[in-house]
Amino acid sequence: MSTGAASTNLKIGIVGFGNFAQFLAKTIIKQGHSLTATSRSDYSQICLNLGVSFYKDVEAFLEADNDVVMICTSILSMSEVMKPMPLHCLQRPTLFVDVLSVKEFPKNFLLQVLPEESDVLCAHPMFGPESGKNGWKDLTFKSNRSFSRLFWFAVLVLKKEEGCRMLEMSCEEHDKMAAKSQFLTHTIGRILSEMEIKSTPVNTKGFETLIQLKENTTKDSFDLYSGLFLRNRFAKQELENLELAFKKVKQKLLDRMIDVQDIDDVPLSQRVE
Ligand SMILES: NC(=O)c1ccc[n+]([C@@H]2O[C@H](COP(=O)([O-])OP(=O)(O)OC[C@H]3O[C@@H](n4cnc5c(N)ncnc54)[C@H](OP(=O)(O)O)[C@@H]3O)[C@@H](O)[C@H]2O)c1
Repeated sequence: MSTGAASTNLKIGIVGFGNFAQFLAKTIIKQGHSLTATSRSDYSQICLNLGVSFYKDVEAFLEADNDVVMICTSILSMSEVMKPMPLHCLQRPTLFVDVLSVKEFPKNFLLQVLPEESDVLCAHPMFGPESGKNGWKDLTFKSNRSFSRLFWFAVLVLKKEEGCRMLEMSCEEHDKMAAKSQFLTHTIGRILSEMEIKSTPVNTKGFETLIQLKENTTKDSFDLYSGLFLRNRFAKQELENLELAFKKVKQKLLDRMIDVQDIDDVPLSQRVE
């Protein structure tokens, strides 16, 4: 950890400076921690505006002596970004925090490639640029392990300053629940988007919720959505459950249609009320 006058301030490096990383960076910077970043694309101008040091060169990024390295790449690109990293350039044992929206896959991968002396925190902030735009208070941050350095990260960056609710669970538990909740939510949002649902003059509250869902889920990249499916072994079952449930509901309606037709075929004078 950094020591001295700024003992509560951490040096945090971010790998992958896309949409979500920039959102996190704004809050982390506000708390007085110092940030560095590296990414496939050139974010030097955005970083300059935010007060983040941007390194195109990964080696220089790793040599920047960070306490914490946060992995904010897309789910699908994480291994291709991390594998060739010259991790021998790290100046000391470092806490790696992955914030990918699936957890078993990064845990297994990172435990294989990171130096033994590194700590790994597999975390999933259950909020993003939309749900967290008015602050992170009471939003949930799921993580799989606690270490001393994690303690500092959690307390300083998330809990104390931003009031996040911390939930600890295994990566497997996380992925099971996320398949049943987040993946399902995104799938419904994507289906509604395929249907091109639009606001009407007779919107119900429920329909407005659907429009909001469509808009929120399609703001995330398709890369993110497909990662929720391809890197979570529980997601395929949920997709099948959804399909089955849809077929059941459809069948119930079709059965009812036949009942109603039978009634309609009986002359009004012969119907029993
Ligand atoms: N958005 C959210 O609300 C949210 C919430 C919690 C967790 N997360 C997690 O945070 C991570 C980032 O999410 P996101 O919303 O910013 O969008 P994303 O589309 O999942 O990821 C974008 C990031 O991935 C990098 N990337 C994509 N393909 C790459 C490739 N082939 N090689 C190298 N880098 C590549 C991009 O780098 P460049 O920009 O440099 O091209 C960018 O930094 C994801 O793992 C996601 O699951 C997101």
